[in-house]
Amino acid sequence: MNEKMIRQIKSEAKLIFTGDYSGHDMQHTMRVCRTAVKIAEKEGADVELTIVTALLHDVDDRKLTGKQGKAENAADILRKCGVDEKTAEKICRNIERISFHGTGENVPEDIEGRIVQDADRLDAMGAIGIARTFAYAGNKKQRLFPDEENEGHKSAVSHFYDKLLKLSGLMNTETARQMAQERHCFMLAFLDELDREMENEKDG
Ligand code: ADP
Ligand code: NI
Repeated sequence: MNEKMIRQIKSEAKLIFTGDYSGHDMQHTMRVCRTAVKIAEKEGADVELTIVTALLHDVDDRKLTGKQGKAENAADILRKCGVDEKTAEKICRNIERISFHGTGENVPEDIEGRIVQDADRLDAMGAIGIARTFAYAGNKKQRLFPDEENEGHKSAVSHFYDKLLKLSGLMNTETARQMAQERHCFMLAFLDELDREMENEKDG
């Protein structure tokens, strides 16, 4: 893979995200890409492979495509951009395992895939993760807080307990595990402050 191919892959990915507000936009993709490169350099992984995997990691997300399974968009883009068959298959196998689905048993085969999975999870944590969660919840017409009358209904705050607070324990690489600490603590501080303000409101 060369620089020209990578540039072409990036613009193809951009086209797929046009008009998406579920948090799968090019800004997210580029943040994941930058974080993944940082991790790859520390972990001694292949940087180009990491970049391409990051650029394509969400192009087949079921929230975008409406279906779950094969990395079809990624395969099309890789073919179109002239990536050889074997490398393309390897990248697609990794992409198919990156998404979080509950328990974290989906681990990509290669270190580059595992790094992108870490970078993707880091982008769901910390200040950015908090912002994305509230944007997503608003988009899905969810409330800010769990509703006592509708127990079990999803809300922005319940998502922290369903997913976000579990992510720091799911990192594949030591580098990402360290990066996750600060973001995890920031989310806990945010939830504490939220509680404190809610309590004050009750008193007043
Ligand atoms: P990705 O695959 O890029 O991690 P997801 O599809 O899991 O993205 O989610 C996109 C963003 O929206 C993430 O920041 C995630 O935490 C947030 N999100 C996902 N599901 C919910 C939900 N039910 N409520 C609130 N936020 C959510
Ligand atoms: Ni993602």
